[in-house]
Amino acid sequence: MNSDRANIAVKSSRFPHSVFWGYFITLCLMSGLHTGLLLLMQKLDLSEIVQVHITLLYWAFVAGSLTLYTRVQVRKTYEIPMLKLAEATAKIADGDFSVRVEPMSEHEKLDYLDVMIADFNKMTEELGSIETLRVDFFSNVSHEIKTPISVIKNAAEMLKKHNLSTEKQQEYIDIITNAAKRLSTLITNILRLNKLENRTIMPHTGEFDLCDRLVQSALMFETVWEEKNIEFEAEIADERKMITADAELLSLVWNNLLSNAFKFTENGGTVTLREYTDNGRIYIIVEDTGCGMNEQTKKHIFDKFYQGDTSHSTEGNGLGLALALRVLQLSGGMIDVESTPGKGTKFIVTLPE
Ligand SMILES: Nc1ncnc2c1ncn2[C@@H]1O[C@H](COP(=O)(O)OP(=O)(O)OP(=O)(O)O)[C@@H](O)[C@H]1O
Ligand SMILES: [Mg+2]
Repeated sequence: MNSDRANIAVKSSRFPHSVFWGYFITLCLMSGLHTGLLLLMQKLDLSEIVQVHITLLYWAFVAGSLTLYTRVQVRKTYEIPMLKLAEATAKIADGDFSVRVEPMSEHEKLDYLDVMIADFNKMTEELGSIETLRVDFFSNVSHEIKTPISVIKNAAEMLKKHNLSTEKQQEYIDIITNAAKRLSTLITNILRLNKLENRTIMPHTGEFDLCDRLVQSALMFETVWEEKNIEFEAEIADERKMITADAELLSLVWNNLLSNAFKFTENGGTVTLREYTDNGRIYIIVEDTGCGMNEQTKKHIFDKFYQGDTSHSTEGNGLGLALALRVLQLSGGMIDVESTPGKGTKFIVTLPE
């Protein structure tokens, strides 16, 4: 709307000069007619009292017509749009963000009130989408919190039973520990995301060796690739790559990309971590031969709480890529994804050198 508006002249008054000229000319004509009327009445030799009454009636008619015309114009030009705006504002105050005010003039003849109405509609739309995000966020958080809590509750109920074998007891204790861990990761990630969303710059920047950090992150998954019999390949082109950024926050990106790659790759697959520098940018690529993603999933992976593959939804909360994207935005980096269902996925991260 704003870019459209740049090409359109917006009128700064709802009452053009022609209206006032119209009033002036009408009143001049009416006083001319008055003089003609006086001459006619004198010619007809009417009594003075009749002449006074006719003159009074004439001016009453002129004043009445002009007042009525002004009233209709003011109502049409000002009151109706203002009443519509007032009605819409009252609805918004009651929490209804679906309300919109119809534009008054045609697109080419915009005036400041039309612009105000368009801005009002835009503002309402924005408020509505913030409200939807807020409601969605809370319902997602509640859902993600409720699931591990009910798992803990059920396992604790089972533990209360007598005659449980030591193995069974251990099994329930493990379930409780895992659910508690999941809950704790969820809260940590929500807090991290909240903190990062309110920031515009990276807080703790310092110089560090990116290659060393990448290797450290990859080694954390050693048990996973051994357990799942996944072939892990690391192709780190630079021996050392010193960069200035927040090492801890960037580790969240590498950890999540690698954890996703290992999580969504079946036993016997391959995960590759690549690093190289080209044209002043550092490329970090995490590629897997896992289940891949369809177009629909690809579109939403950076949304908070989005989990495309429901078979893995018990692992994680769908916050990893939202966090990764925010960290990279703050670090001057970018992230891109290429994926084919059934074949695998490739995440390409670039950072400034
Ligand atoms: N390598 C991948 N292969 C296939 N699907 C992926 C891959 N990486 C991400 N996805 C899809 O993107 C979704 C979002 O990923 P994200 O990392 O944000 O969440 P998560 O891994 O499910 O949970 P969390 O990261 O919070 O532990 C995943 O649930 C999955 O559907
Ligand atoms: Mg993840």
